[in-house]
Parts: sequence; C-alpha cells; structure tokens
Amino acid sequence: MNNFELKNPTKIIFGKDTIKQLESEIPADAKVLLLYGGGSIKKNGIYEQVKKALTKVEVVEFGGIPANPEYATLIEALQVIKEENITYLLAVGGGSVIDGTKFLSAAAVFEGETPWDILTKNIRTEVGMPFATVLTLPATGSEMNSGAVITRSETKEKLAMGGPGLFPVFSILDPQVISSIPQRQLANGLMDSFSHVLEQYMTYPVEGLLQDRFAESILQTIIEVAPKVLKDPTDYDAAANFMWSCTMALNGLIQKGVPGDWAIHAMGHELTALFGIDHARTLAVIAPSHYKYNFEAKKEKLAQYGERVWNITEGSIDDKAYAAIERTVAFFHELGIDTKLSDYTKEYEGTAEKIAQRFTDRGWLGLGEHQNLSPDKVEKIVKMAY
Ligand code: NZQ
Ligand code: ZN
Repeated sequence: MNNFELKNPTKIIFGKDTIKQLESEIPADAKVLLLYGGGSIKKNGIYEQVKKALTKVEVVEFGGIPANPEYATLIEALQVIKEENITYLLAVGGGSVIDGTKFLSAAAVFEGETPWDILTKNIRTEVGMPFATVLTLPATGSEMNSGAVITRSETKEKLAMGGPGLFPVFSILDPQVISSIPQRQLANGLMDSFSHVLEQYMTYPVEGLLQDRFAESILQTIIEVAPKVLKDPTDYDAAANFMWSCTMALNGLIQKGVPGDWAIHAMGHELTALFGIDHARTLAVIAPSHYKYNFEAKKEKLAQYGERVWNITEGSIDDKAYAAIERTVAFFHELGIDTKLSDYTKEYEGTAEKIAQRFTDRGWLGLGEHQNLSPDKVEKIVKMAY
C-alpha cells in the first residue's frame, strides 16, 4: 500500500427531513448567497424547505446555474457576491451548482485579474469563501470533496480546479430529494458514481486490501440499488444507499494508498465540452475502449473485479478480465445508457484527433496510473469508442 495523508473537514448531515438543520448550521451573522440551478428546486419543495430554514439570516438569491456550470453565468454571480458583500455561499443542487459554488468560493478571494486563470493555471485555493451544500442529486461526490469542473462555452473548454480550501463546511443529504429526479439523471448518477470507483480501483494491485474492498463494496451496493432506484425513486432505503454510495465514491477515502487512473474522466470531459453529452454518459462511452486498450496493464484488477463484484469465476485471468469488461458494458446498458460516441452524435469524425491535439497543447502527455497514456494512445482509445 502507498503512503498517504487523509483529511476531510466536511460535516455530513444525512437523513430524512434534515434540510431544516440549515437553521442551526449557518452562522447567524452570515450574509448568504443562495445558489441554485434551472429551477427544479422550485417544483419539488426543496426551495421552500431551504427558505424556511433561512428566515433568521440575510439571504440573496442567484438562480440559473446550468448543468455543466458555465463560466459566464458564474461571473455574473461573482458580481452579486461583490456588490452585496456576501460572506457565505449555499449551493442547493447537484454537482453543477455545487461545482459552480466552489468556483465562486475560490474566485471571491482570488487576487488576480482574470478568474479563468484559476482553471488554466492550476491555481489551488488554500482558503476560499465558506460555503455549504444541500445536495439534490446524488452523483458526483462534490458535496464532500474539494474539486470542481467548470465549463466555458465560448471556447468549448471544460476544466478542473480544486484545493484544500474548497471542501464544503457542511453538506445536507436528505435522500427524499431523489423522488423528483428524472430517470435520465438517476441513471447518470448511478453511472457517474460507479465510474468514480472504477477510476480509483481499475489500475494495478498494490496490496491495498482494505481499499480494494471499500471500492468493491461501493460497486456492489450501486449494482444492488440501481434497479430499485430506477423503478421507484421514492423507495427511501434504496435512495439512502444510492446517495451515500455516491458520496463515498469520491470523498477521498477510497483513493488513499492506491494508484488512480482518471484518464476516462479526462477524455470524457472533452466529449461534454465538444458535444454537450451528459458527463456520466461520456464515461460509459470511453470506459470500455479504455479498458480494452489498456488490457495488459489492468487485467489483474479487472479479473479481481470480475470475480468479486460480478461472480465471474471461470477461466484464466485474461478470460475473467475480458468477461468483466463485457459485464460492465451490459450493466451500463441496463441503466439505459449508450456506450458508443455515434449513439450521441453523427459528427464524431475527427474527434479523436481533436482531443489528442488539445491534450498535447495542454501538456497532458502522460495520463493514467502509469502516466504513460500519451496523446497518440488517447487518440486510439477515443477512435475505438466511435
Ligand atoms: O438545474 P436544475 O433545475 O436544478 O435541474 C438539474 C439539472 O437539470 C436536475 N436536478 C438536480 N436535482 C434534481 C433535479 N431534477 C429534479 N429533482 C431534483 N432533486 O438534474 C440536472 C443535472 O444536474 P447536474 O447538477 O448537472 O448533475 P450532476 O450532479 O450529475 O453534476 C454534473 C456536473 O458535475 C461535474 C460534471 O463534470 C458536471 O459538470 N463533476 C463534478 C465532480 C466533482 N466536483 O467532484 C466529479 C465528477 O466526475 C464530475 O466531473
Ligand atoms: Zn464523474
């Protein structure tokens, strides 16, 4: 097992009817900017619950943060923070609203001229403006990690940022919020969280016995609850296990002591930036070809995953590893998610070359757990995903 440090300061408040606890968690003297997305919270009762819990503090609102949080919109919110002397941010939404809020937390204290530099120059935020979240969509784990991904439609870019100052102070996770989520977004949440575990697990063995079993248990839980969540999002126990699995998949715990891959996300983000494909679905497009292309390097973990998660016990390591990839693709299809780029766009010709060129331009010359996935290999993987 590799050396590691682990610190996660986010307080999690989990369970039924917990949104009202905002009242005691937000400092009484805070001037709060309440941030939300396209308006789903106004239809499902979450907005009312939040407002009721915030009657004792001063609140300004900023709605309209789109899925794949858009830089131009966030710059408008930054103006509001400055004009209104906001001291505390509250994100009520899914990964997009939370990530947008993390950007604002960083941008509010940023001393440079252009906040976009935070993304392009890899500026880590040591201390941001304090913020909290009310999670409305389990998927990204953003509610308990310090990373964010921001989109700039003007340049068709989607870039990551982060830093130890970007953990939420607290996050409220009430699984009842799931009942209003459309099927497409439920499937996305299941897919994204599953893939977060795979990115931190499907590498090579390092005797991280407990880490492997943490990861496998999250995968098994997602597989078990997926059909229940999709069939009946009001099933509280399924919703609760789904929500907690998503948080645990990307709150830092399972990545400690083991190598990480994250090349699937790097390629996937480009497909969202270029075509607007939902984040989770881009991962389903890239993962199968990524695992096939890197089969030799990953086959031991693929076989272990096949055995422990899918009960694939017959055959050699190669047989089990290959069957594990096939079973994974079948699982994505069971979620209702297509796994080829051509299922999402007719304009796919040239995409692989474009992504490889972007990675070259950014100096991303060696992705993956061995840092040897060069742009020419990226090009081949993306082509295999057409
Ligand atoms: O905007 P509203 O009206 O709220 O509707 C949203 C949005 O249309 C809707 N929704 C959310 N909660 C709902 C609901 N509809 C009904 N009932 C509810 N309770 O769902 C739609 C999608 O929301 P979004 O926040 O975009 O989804 P998700 O949570 O999947 O977030 C995706 C974003 O997170 C980034 C992705 O790249 C993408 O930009 N990621 C962030 C990560 C992180 N910070 O750690 C890691 C991930 O790998 C990912 O990259
Ligand atoms: Zn993801």
